Amino acid sequence: MNTPIPLLDLQAQYHSIKKEVDENIHQVLDSQYFIMGDSVKNFEEEVNRYIGANHSLGCASGSDALLLALMAIDIEPGDYVITSPFTFFATAGAISRLGAIPIFIDIEYDSFNIDPVKIRSFLEGKSEIAKKIKAPKEKIKAIIPVHLYGQMSDMNPIMDIAKEFNLYVIEDAAQSIGSTYQNRNAGTIGDFGCFSFFPSKNLGAYGDAGLITVKDSRLAEKVDILRLHGAKPKYHHKYVGINSRLDAIQAAVLSVKLKYLNEWSQRRNEIAHLYNSLFQETGLVSEYEGCSDCGSQSSCEFPDGKIVLPKETTGAPEENGFHIYHQYTIRIKNRDGLSEFLDSDKIGNAVYYPVPLHIQECFLKFRYQLGDFPVSECISRQSISLPIYPELKEEEIDRVVDAVNKFVNL
Ligand SMILES: Cc1ncc(COP(=O)(O)O)c(C=O)c1O
Repeated sequence: MNTPIPLLDLQAQYHSIKKEVDENIHQVLDSQYFIMGDSVKNFEEEVNRYIGANHSLGCASGSDALLLALMAIDIEPGDYVITSPFTFFATAGAISRLGAIPIFIDIEYDSFNIDPVKIRSFLEGKSEIAKKIKAPKEKIKAIIPVHLYGQMSDMNPIMDIAKEFNLYVIEDAAQSIGSTYQNRNAGTIGDFGCFSFFPSKNLGAYGDAGLITVKDSRLAEKVDILRLHGAKPKYHHKYVGINSRLDAIQAAVLSVKLKYLNEWSQRRNEIAHLYNSLFQETGLVSEYEGCSDCGSQSSCEFPDGKIVLPKETTGAPEENGFHIYHQYTIRIKNRDGLSEFLDSDKIGNAVYYPVPLHIQECFLKFRYQLGDFPVSECISRQSISLPIYPELKEEEIDRVVDAVNKFVNL
C-alpha cells in the first residue's frame, strides 16, 4: 500500500519550528496581552521590511483586508470594481458586500491572471462585456488584480490603465507573499496589497489572519481606524468600521515563520521546476495549440492525452520576477478523471477553482452568463493542483509524476 502524499503537509513544517513557535506563543500567554500589542506591532514591522511596503497593518483575514481597502476608498452601493472571475470567492465577495458591482474581466490563458488588454478594451467600451454591463465611467472606482497561485499579475499595464482612467489598484496578494514583478514585491505596486495568512498559505497562521499594505499615509491611517470599529480615539467613531484585528497569538506564530519564508518559497520554486523537468521527460507535455473549446482568440487548447504545465510569465527569472508557487497547477482535459485516479492512489490534489465567479448563484443578479469569460471557464474545467510544499521529497515528486503518467496512458 502506498503511503499518502498530502497536498500540503503542515505537520512537517510545525515539527521543524515547534520550539520557536511554542516559545513565542508562550510569551503572549505570559503577557496576557491578546489584542494588538507588541507581537502584532513587531510582525507588522517585519512584513513592512520584508516586502518593502510603506505601511503594513494586520487584520483578521485576507477577506477583511480586501474589505478594508474597499472601505478606505469609500466604495458604496452602485460603484463598480474590476476583477478576475477566476479567483477565490473573497475577491468579488468583498466588492459585493459593500453593495458594489464586480466587473469581471477574463484572464490570460498562460498566467491565469487578469488580462490587461481586456481591461483596456472594457474601459474603452469595445468589449462585449462593456456593452452588457454598461457601467458609467465615473462609477468605476478600482481594479483588483489577483496574483493567483503565487505569480503576480502583469502590473505595469494595469498601473498605466489605472492612471489613465483614474482608478485605485488593490492587489489581491493573498496567495503571493514574497513573489516579485520586475524586482518589486507583491503588495507594493498598487495603492493597497491584501494578504491572507490562512493556515494553508505559504505564510500560514494557526487560524485566520491577514494584513493590508497601504502606499498613501492618509489612507493607511484610515485603514488603521476602520479596523478598530472606525474609532479614534477609542469610543469616538469617525467611520462605521469593522472589528478586524490581527490576533496577538497569530502574530507571534507568523513572526517565527516569516524568518523561514524565503527558504520555503525558494524550495517550492525548485520543486516546481523539478516537476516541470520530470513531466517533460514523460512526453506528456503540450504547448497551446489554438482553442476549439472556448473559442477565445488566445490559444488555450491542447490535445487530449496531454497536459499543460504552469507557465512563468511575470514570475520568470529573465523578467526579474519570482513565482512562489503557492500552487503547482497543471491542465488536463480529463481533470476529474485524474483527480479520482490520484485520490485512489492517495495523492493529494485539489481544484482551484471549479466554478468561476461570474456564474456563482449569488452573483446571478449581475446578469453574467456562461460564455462571458471563455478562458476562465475553460481553465476551471481543466486545472488541477498537485502536492507542493517545502518538505516534499524527491521520491514523492517522482511518484506524483508517475501517477499522472500512468493515468494518461491507461
Ligand atoms: C485570492 C484570494 N483572495 C482572498 C482570500 C481570502 O483570504 P482569507 O481566507 O484569509 O479570508 C484568499 C484565501 O483564501 C485567496 O486565495
